[in-house]
Amino acid sequence: MQFDIVSIFPGMLRAPLAEGVVGRAIARGLIDVGIHDLRDFTTDRHRVVDDMPFGGGPGMVMKPEPFFAAVEFIRSHRGEPDAIVLTSPDGDRFAHRDAARLVTARRVVFLCGRYEGVDERVRTHLATEALSIGDYVLSGGEIAALALIDACVRLIPGVMGKEASGAEESFSEGLLEYPHFTRPAVFEGQPIPDILTGGDHAKVRAWRQAEAERLTRERRPDLWAAYQNRAKKPK
Ligand code: ADE
Repeated sequence: MQFDIVSIFPGMLRAPLAEGVVGRAIARGLIDVGIHDLRDFTTDRHRVVDDMPFGGGPGMVMKPEPFFAAVEFIRSHRGEPDAIVLTSPDGDRFAHRDAARLVTARRVVFLCGRYEGVDERVRTHLATEALSIGDYVLSGGEIAALALIDACVRLIPGVMGKEASGAEESFSEGLLEYPHFTRPAVFEGQPIPDILTGGDHAKVRAWRQAEAERLTRERRPDLWAAYQNRAKKPK
């Protein structure tokens, strides 16, 4: 799978992509990530990527031309993208199902916005969708693009190796994960649940399922309601 990211801060993207699960996936050739400096697609001497907003008001707006030129470059040098995602706080709220959908694509491009905003034509005439990672404003879309890529990459077959497959984790079943414990069995007077050392695997499985349900009910009533609705529907 191929990802391309367009940003004015390519350095912000390089270090995180070199580490951990994503770094390993790149090193193993399971994914390919292209990082493109938006300023390389400007045509003026000062490599300007923003301009004043029509209608007035504070702040600057990112110009459309460099984004369109960057995507044209990606199209011709990297192949036709299946999705072009603008990261934006007013996009659709990103969730597990979006990651699962995006990994069915072969090529995904991320456009990272900055400043007060991005010229709306980038969203309406270039991006195929806009995604937000939550109801707060980051200083730019780079951290959001990294979060989206990370969530996608863990779902690519072969990426997670011996660790539990991404599909078994929280959210794919609509429940939070059960609690985990490791040694010591008693830490600062806090023992682990007896059932985990009893050796009865069926009981451990049942306990984990019950705990996942309890934690979801207590911590995320919204997910719990959706889970119950789904359970009621005939498959
Ligand atoms: N850019 C700035 N804030 C963002 C957010 N919450 N999600 C995605 N992109 C963003």
